[in-house]
Amino acid sequence: MLVASVCHIDLETLMTLPLREIADTGIRVTPIALGCWPIAGVTSLNVTEANSLATLQAAVDSGINFLDSAYCYGLHGESDLLIARALGHRRDELVIATKGGIHWENGIQVKDGRSETLLRQCDESLTRLNTDRIDLFYLHAPDPKTPLAESAAAMKQLLDAGKIRSVGLSNASREQLAEFHAVCPLAAYQPHYNMLQREIEASQLPWCVEHGVSVMIYWPLMKGLLAGKLPRDFHFDPKDGRRKYPMFQGDEWQKNQDFLDALRPIALEAETTVAQVVLNWTIQRAGITVALCGAKRPEQIQDNAAAMTWSLAPDQIARIDQAIAARGPVVSRAAV
Ligand SMILES: NC(=O)c1ccc[n+]([C@@H]2O[C@H](COP(=O)([O-])OP(=O)(O)OC[C@H]3O[C@@H](n4cnc5c(N)ncnc54)[C@H](OP(=O)(O)O)[C@@H]3O)[C@@H](O)[C@H]2O)c1
Repeated sequence: MLVASVCHIDLETLMTLPLREIADTGIRVTPIALGCWPIAGVTSLNVTEANSLATLQAAVDSGINFLDSAYCYGLHGESDLLIARALGHRRDELVIATKGGIHWENGIQVKDGRSETLLRQCDESLTRLNTDRIDLFYLHAPDPKTPLAESAAAMKQLLDAGKIRSVGLSNASREQLAEFHAVCPLAAYQPHYNMLQREIEASQLPWCVEHGVSVMIYWPLMKGLLAGKLPRDFHFDPKDGRRKYPMFQGDEWQKNQDFLDALRPIALEAETTVAQVVLNWTIQRAGITVALCGAKRPEQIQDNAAAMTWSLAPDQIARIDQAIAARGPVVSRAAV
């Protein structure tokens, strides 16, 4: 029996939401997190401060306890600052992840994984977040100019100092995960992953399962595409950052719309939204710990949070898997 209210989660359901442990840290998180890139307003359009604050509030009111931020979410750390403003008074209810190792220079993202940079950015994030600890601190991406062992040693130093409670690595290959883990124990890995972009299943995901490292995936909705609300003839604003990704272009776009058409009857049958079908499928995948869902308006994160209150039936999962196979391989590209 599927219970899939789109927006409103009652108190009883909230109290019984399943939590998942980040590796063996004792830190327990909801399988849906709020991804805070959109509220920072860098590439997402029509972002307002009022909506961003309301979205953070709505996430927590919908039962989400996990927020994903980064030093570079916002040209001046807007995401960390908004979290402190909206939810500072509820700090002890929250698990806050943020990242160091990428900053902005003249509108361009620059990777810098040097030890002194990571130590300084961690201190700046603690100040921006108005907190005495970061629950999970990631290296945002390996920096090709800095030995990975140097970045990992800096993260270990932060862990030993008690400034951060656990360590993660994002946008890394299997070899980089292993190299980092040899210097500093990894609790989490953050790659992109969704129904149509599943490259990690062949390499990084089995490594994480084998080593007990949690997997927090980004782009579960492929930047809104898999929410199924963008019509086939959608006209992208020239400033819309999504236009640069192959999945939003030409033949790929048409094939993705065909794929969404195959998901719609399942959403209808489950009396829910396509976004919830996609997210529920994602958090049921073996080895996937959390789906980091970006949102810039309260109703989006309320919809997404409801995806952790019910389960697709095995026959629905089988039909989704057939639709994925029929869609075939997609043209992918990484975020950084
Ligand atoms: N480690 C990394 O390098 C990295 C890279 C990228 C992202 N991330 C993290 O992962 C998070 C998720 O990625 P993302 O935010 O880029 O993409 P996403 O979660 O796949 O998609 C978010 C976008 O989808 C749309 N949306 C969300 N919920 C919806 C709903 N229920 N119905 C309709 N539309 C909905 C909104 O876009 P519109 O309203 O504009 O349509 C929203 O901004 C980020 O916020 C960030 O925390 C990490």
